[in-house]
Amino acid sequence: MRELSLNVLDIAQNSIAAGATLTEITVEEDTAADRIVLTVRDNGRGMTPEQVRKVSDPFYTTRTTRKVGMGIPLFRMAAEMAGGGLSIESVPGKGTAVTATFVRSHIDRMPLGDITGTVVALIRMNPDRDFRYVRKWNGREFAVDTRELREILGDVPLDTPEVADWIDAYIKEQTEAILAPSSGEGPEDVPGN
Ligand SMILES: Nc1ncnc2c1ncn2[C@@H]1O[C@H](COP(=O)(O)OP(=O)(O)OP(=O)(O)O)[C@@H](O)[C@H]1O
Ligand SMILES: [Mg+2]
Repeated sequence: MRELSLNVLDIAQNSIAAGATLTEITVEEDTAADRIVLTVRDNGRGMTPEQVRKVSDPFYTTRTTRKVGMGIPLFRMAAEMAGGGLSIESVPGKGTAVTATFVRSHIDRMPLGDITGTVVALIRMNPDRDFRYVRKWNGREFAVDTRELREILGDVPLDTPEVADWIDAYIKEQTEAILAPSSGEGPEDVPGN
């Protein structure tokens, strides 16, 4: 089965292709509202309203290597199939936010998959760009921001294997920490839940 983390990777790669220097990924789970909201927000070149309209059409792409762009249509399909939807907010020269919502318990809602691995891979593959990852679970949240990590790391690059491993471990630890002990139901991307 496909995983939503792969869609998030696709959408974040659009941000990188759009020249974003900062990409923010937010994963929000609310069990009472039975909702998952995934957002990818960037400060890239943005799109005109006409481009935004066309982007929902799988035959629209600015790629030259292949005619059909599937990143956004597939993400939209995953959301609609799970009782939710996708929205795009974009301002030319300012940036873009893609938000997908899902009914958490919907039978056709794909699993989140390895969001931590996706975030770590994006950081490792793009050490000169900044990423902020925000994980929310039933009102609790944490964030990891490469702009802050850079200050701590000094001259050590973000694609150093030890640094990537540390970020990976940190995100997993923080994700576990926002798990509400009383509910017996944890965030999906924590191994063992
Ligand atoms: N964050 C973004 N900023 C600016 N333009 C974007 C952004 N995301 C998408 N676009 C525009 O929308 C088009 C369609 O995106 P989509 O991900 O659906 O397909 P693609 O990236 O062209 O191809 P694929 O994802 O299949 O490799 C892109 O080619 C790009 O022109
Ligand atoms: Mg794409």
